[in-house]
Amino acid sequence: MIPDSVIIWEWLAFAVRWTHVITAIAWIGSSFYFIALDLSLRKAPDLPPGAYGEEWQVHGGGFYHIRKFLVAPERMPEHLTWFKWESYSTWLSGAALLAVTYWAGANLFLIDPQKADLAIWQAVAISGGSLAVGWLIYDRLCKSRLGEHPTALMLLLFVALVAMGWAYDQIFTGRAALLHLGAFTATIMTANVFFIIMPNQRIVVADLKAGRAADPKYGKIAKLRSTHNNYLTLPVVFLMLSNHYPLAFASEYNWLIAALIFLMGVTIRHFFNSMHAGKGQLWWTWAVTAMLFVGIMWLSALGLNHDSYEESQARALTQVEQRFADAEGFDAVSRSVAGRCAMCHAREPSWEGIHHAPKGVLLETPADIARSAKEIYVQAGLTNAMPPANLSGMTQDERVAIIRWFRQVGGVGVAGLRP
Ligand code: HEC
Repeated sequence: MIPDSVIIWEWLAFAVRWTHVITAIAWIGSSFYFIALDLSLRKAPDLPPGAYGEEWQVHGGGFYHIRKFLVAPERMPEHLTWFKWESYSTWLSGAALLAVTYWAGANLFLIDPQKADLAIWQAVAISGGSLAVGWLIYDRLCKSRLGEHPTALMLLLFVALVAMGWAYDQIFTGRAALLHLGAFTATIMTANVFFIIMPNQRIVVADLKAGRAADPKYGKIAKLRSTHNNYLTLPVVFLMLSNHYPLAFASEYNWLIAALIFLMGVTIRHFFNSMHAGKGQLWWTWAVTAMLFVGIMWLSALGLNHDSYEESQARALTQVEQRFADAEGFDAVSRSVAGRCAMCHAREPSWEGIHHAPKGVLLETPADIARSAKEIYVQAGLTNAMPPANLSGMTQDERVAIIRWFRQVGGVGVAGLRP
């Protein structure tokens, strides 16, 4: 029994996402840990020469005594633990997830023909290329004279990120725009580790081994990049999650929403950074955070845009979508989906308590339905996930019809699952 390609693909995507979340937890977890540690270091009378501060911690049944040497200790310790694979593996699994979701599913999730009618290879080239170019520009900026003025640099970085979000939204779907802004930012963060922080640390280690005094400038450079990473972490997580929330991405103001999210990243981190540094709890930062959040909700409702009923029908189908529309049984499937699903998945849902098409999935017009063939197959054919609790009473025959219809085009072998 060989599962069909849709099943394999779904599980591959799930596995990659699982890996990505795990590695990201490891990266962000260790990075938060070190930020808090760094800020709470204390002086002690018995600190060895070159040590800046120390901290006692208790965890998991034991006590830890940690000391920080700002530039380097006098001698190389025998064992040195590096922290880099948390970051690299997050980026690598993220790149794989981007490829599985947005490159393999470019027609569905990446390309918006009304914004830019790109060929798949063009869209993929822009998607990947923009991440690389973003890093190169950012790195130039940090190495320029602006690097001496961290606050001005941070402001410029903020403006550049917002501009990038806007630019992505001019060519890609809203969903892909916010996700790419997240990937753009996260690429800068990992590249900071790979190209700057790690090489600098290797220089210092080599100096120590050779018995030379280490140059403090390397630590300073790493600190600048590390500070950027600190403030960018929370917004990146938001942007990565945003594709599950159409209210965040399906608004024409999604790039402004992203701007407010970057500000929220700063206000939230500022609270914790100040607290860990022993400067007290700055509760006003939460008031600002809440105001920003209300602003986001307001913006999302202002700019909701999906194509109208007529636009959906008028917009040309892609080749694959057309094959679904031409396949045998489409008319029956289309009627049953419109009948069982469109009370919720409509431009103006009629189901009590549903105000926007859930997850932005529209299943009203035949064109909508041809475009969502795979989703319908997975949610209502292969599984009974939709309608929720079978609220609209979809019959087994209707589900079988969906499977038959999809498999003609899907080119998927006989799965030996249900008929
Ligand atoms: C009673 C309202 C309702 C009906 C009827 C309904 N759905 Fe949904 N649908 C939802 C809700 C709510 C969600 C969001 C679920 C979530 O948040 O995980 C959803 C989500 C989806 C998704 C997106 C899943 C994801 O996680 O990306 C698809 C695809 C979908 N529905 C297809 C269908 C199909 C096909 C039908 C008809 C066979 C259908 N729905 C009928 C309410 C409905």
